[in-house]
Amino acid sequence: MILSIESSCDDSSIAVTDSKTKALLYHKKISQEAEHACYGGVVPELASRLHAVALPNILEETKPYFDTLKAVAVTNQPGLGVTLLEGIAMAKTLATLLKIPLIPVHHLKGHIYSLFIEKPTRFPMLVLLISGGHTMVLRVESFEKMEILATSMDDSVGESFDKTAKMMGLGYPGGPIIEALAKEGDENRFDLPVPLRNSKLIAFSLSGLKNAVRLEIEKLGGPEAMSEQDRRDLAASFQKAVKLHLLQKSKKIFKAEPIKDFAIVGGASANRYLRSAYETLCSEFGKTMHTAPLEYCSDNAAMIGRYAIDAYEKKQFVDPNTIDIVSTKKQTAGTML
Ligand code: KG4
Ligand code: ZN
Repeated sequence: MILSIESSCDDSSIAVTDSKTKALLYHKKISQEAEHACYGGVVPELASRLHAVALPNILEETKPYFDTLKAVAVTNQPGLGVTLLEGIAMAKTLATLLKIPLIPVHHLKGHIYSLFIEKPTRFPMLVLLISGGHTMVLRVESFEKMEILATSMDDSVGESFDKTAKMMGLGYPGGPIIEALAKEGDENRFDLPVPLRNSKLIAFSLSGLKNAVRLEIEKLGGPEAMSEQDRRDLAASFQKAVKLHLLQKSKKIFKAEPIKDFAIVGGASANRYLRSAYETLCSEFGKTMHTAPLEYCSDNAAMIGRYAIDAYEKKQFVDPNTIDIVSTKKQTAGTML
């Protein structure tokens, strides 16, 4: 069994995975969304203190598995330094006390492996990763070979949903709130700019769109002066602009990449409006679309455990005294994850 720990942002999660059958035996996640909602985003110091309470409580429930553990895996990058540290401290202690190997896991690779928690591993694949911290398209050829084809030059998709909700005074996380509002809205009411529409760049950019949303809110007299219908229409118009942007750039990648399997992962991949737009695009290009089950789209330790099974086979262990904590690293197109 492998015990895996995830604490890169505002979810405290632990899983136990059977490395032979790849079955997920135990999985628990405590989200901190309610605690961060009044700030409109994650407050790192608060998140760290909440992990310090939640992680030991979850770990307590995994005690029956301790005798069978052959490794402990932990997210060590990328994420918030102070929250990564909570999971890493716990993983180092466990690895040392139980005398088992420690496996460091790249959080974004974990998101990709969320596809294989309930389904067999499938390579090669084109993957769109849209989360709170990242937006990128990758060519994933194997466990070792994951190349970034395009990234966001500024905000990520999830972040743009969060900021749009925050500007309208709607709490955190913004993704599900905006998606729900947009269902009832008129997506053609506000003429928001589709980012990089006339640019040949194969990259993403969401900060200009965020600014356009801010200006519309100002024109309406600020968030308090907006009617419920204004909010619905603005949410829908924003979501449509994000969709058109993602699709325009993805189309260029689809034209250049013959790989038949395509997947969307990360927290924002739970968005049904975006999913259905990609289903249409995939059928146009003869590609098969894959997604992770909804419960494994946002951060969780099950995906970290699933990645760790393959890392264990390849003996990707690290000395508990020298494990790196990498909070941020610039991800650019052309580099490997
Ligand atoms: O993958 P994740 O849990 O954390 C990171 O690795 O960042 O993603 C969280 C992000 C948040 O920005 C959240 O607003 C967004 O995913 N999200 C959504 C939806 N559900 C969550 N964005 C758009 N539509 C959704 N339904
Ligand atoms: Zn994530």
